[in-house]
Amino acid sequence: MDIHAHRKDEHVFIAEKQYRPIADNGLDQVRLLPATLPELGLDEITLTTTLAGKQVAYPFFINAMTGGSPQTDKINEKLAYVANKTGLAMATGSQSVGLKAPKYAQGFTTLRALLPENMVIGNLGADHPLENCQKAVAMLSADALELHLNAAQELVMPEGDRSFYWLENLKQVTQNLAVPVIVKEVGGGISPLALAKLKQCHVKYVDLSGKGGTNFIAIENERRKRKEYHFLTDLGLTTAEVLLAAQPYKADFSFTASGGIRNALDIAKCIALGADNVGISGLFLHTLLKEDTTGLIALIEDLKQQLAQIMLLVGCKNITELQQAPYVLSAELLAFRSQL
Ligand code: FNR
Repeated sequence: MDIHAHRKDEHVFIAEKQYRPIADNGLDQVRLLPATLPELGLDEITLTTTLAGKQVAYPFFINAMTGGSPQTDKINEKLAYVANKTGLAMATGSQSVGLKAPKYAQGFTTLRALLPENMVIGNLGADHPLENCQKAVAMLSADALELHLNAAQELVMPEGDRSFYWLENLKQVTQNLAVPVIVKEVGGGISPLALAKLKQCHVKYVDLSGKGGTNFIAIENERRKRKEYHFLTDLGLTTAEVLLAAQPYKADFSFTASGGIRNALDIAKCIALGADNVGISGLFLHTLLKEDTTGLIALIEDLKQQLAQIMLLVGCKNITELQQAPYVLSAELLAFRSQL
């Protein structure tokens, strides 16, 4: 098997090995205020929102993970089955392996038939030129394309890239691709310095993908012989921090939050901090591997129901209201925000 396809298997295996049920996403330092007198009934709550400018029924989705090897194509097939049963949008992992040879594209190409009604999102690295992005979109009949920013991951990979000139390419692709582009991190957090630059490139959709869950520095370090990069896993901004740091850019972007989302309260807090929707990878992968599609469908249905219950308890009947919900920050997060 090609090194790129083999790497896909390793990523899944190591991500699952490093999975922790309690994430360090900083969201425990954000507290929503209970309404106490909700003056609402559960049947009045609606969960619809937008993702990359399109209306979606639920404010969370299956975020980028995998595909391109026999084992990971099987995982994508199962994720697609779950997305179809639950109505969630689904992103695949990087399709760059699929651009290398048709045999690696096969698994991506067959996904759309399993997801006739769902929003399907493709994925490539931010260095891929427009032509590759068009091929990736065609490979999936995708409704949107994620382009990932992962400099730290590349540096820790022995076979990774060593120079990173992405901005001009992001501008070209965002302006010329027929579907919306979502620029994302991979669990290290997008800094507000980068948001200022992305704004100049006319990027509208950003997945802030903060630190606290799946950590690609840790994953790539695990793949190294000497594992000497553990110290770098500390680098990055948590999911709570990136959301706070992004707030001055609320009018410029539609934000996805991701990174260590573990339960419905995490989802609600991300939305209260300004996200329009929330991406989940590690938790869904872990649940699928442990409890198969039945367990993952049950988890997703629980998340929908529990999110509606939380919204009732904080007195919000829709996502727009939840985005205005009052919250209190810990002293640590307050200090972080005041130093930006
Ligand atoms: C990922 N992620 C990812 N992101 C991306 O843009 N392209 C990719 O190919 C991958 N591959 C990948 C593989 C596996 C096994 C996992 C678990 C994750 C990153 C993912 O989309 C997300 O940004 C981070 O994982 C943070 O979210 P979680 O996992 O903490 O919910």
